[in-house]
Amino acid sequence: MMGVNMTDAEFNRIQVFLKDRYGIDMSRKKEIAQGRLENYIRTGGWHTYTEYMNAVESDITGRLEKQLVNMLSTNHTYFMREFEHFDYLRQVVLPDLKKKEAKSRDLCIWCGAASTGEEPYMLAMLLKDFFGLEHGSWDTKILATDISTEALRHAVAGTYTKDQIAALPEQWKRRYFREQPGGGKYEATKELKDEVLFRQFNLMEPFPFKRKMHVVFLRNVMIYFDRKTKRELVRKVYNVMEPGGYLFIGRTETIDRESAPFRLVMPSVFRK
Ligand SMILES: C[S@@+](CC[C@H](N)C(=O)[O-])C[C@H]1O[C@@H](n2cnc3c(N)ncnc32)[C@H](O)[C@@H]1O
Repeated sequence: MMGVNMTDAEFNRIQVFLKDRYGIDMSRKKEIAQGRLENYIRTGGWHTYTEYMNAVESDITGRLEKQLVNMLSTNHTYFMREFEHFDYLRQVVLPDLKKKEAKSRDLCIWCGAASTGEEPYMLAMLLKDFFGLEHGSWDTKILATDISTEALRHAVAGTYTKDQIAALPEQWKRRYFREQPGGGKYEATKELKDEVLFRQFNLMEPFPFKRKMHVVFLRNVMIYFDRKTKRELVRKVYNVMEPGGYLFIGRTETIDRESAPFRLVMPSVFRK
């Protein structure tokens, strides 16, 4: 069966839509966009991308728009990614926060591009390890958000293949994952899932948080944003952080000095 051709004008309409609403910059990725949408358009019965985008823009339920974002966002992530950040948390950040918040015993931790859950679950396991027997008397629940409903569905289910959890320390695998009957899949335990609250949130929107964050993970998401979007986002992040709070970005990412007066404490880790 013949594929549906995407004209440059149609591609432009899709990429502007995505950039305006989600900050996602696909301007040089026509082939990727087409590759990801092709089957969906054909099976959905649309004859052109124009017809499809008309449907997306007039769908008041927002369902088609959600699906478009699910298909065009890149959710690649994995356990143990950029492990030096977790090491730094364990050795520097958590001892510091434990002292500082000894009275309140309450930490605000936000993971702003949580994708399919590997990153917030890593944080949860690390926190449990770090606080040990004292964990029960601390509130360290992690807020994990993402724009993709599909990625979040996966994250909430907390189910991963053997290969996906392979790099985790044996002790964590044993303690926090259970093999599901008949299928080589491993599910995060309720104990672990209870440590993370997953919510859909678009980073382009005003931040609704009532409390200031001690730790923010915003890794490997700003690479998809243009400069202006990135700057505005970094400023907003700065404003929702506690003085002395820690921001983690991806190892290959950078932030402009003018966006906010963060202090670099190690490559890709900043302090307010
Ligand atoms: C490559 S993943 C990074 C996952 C994880 N932080 C890591 O470093 O492994 C990027 C994630 O950012 C999310 N994302 C993209 N644009 C977003 C937006 N405007 N608001 C919230 N999340 C967004 C995508 O859905 C995707 O799950």
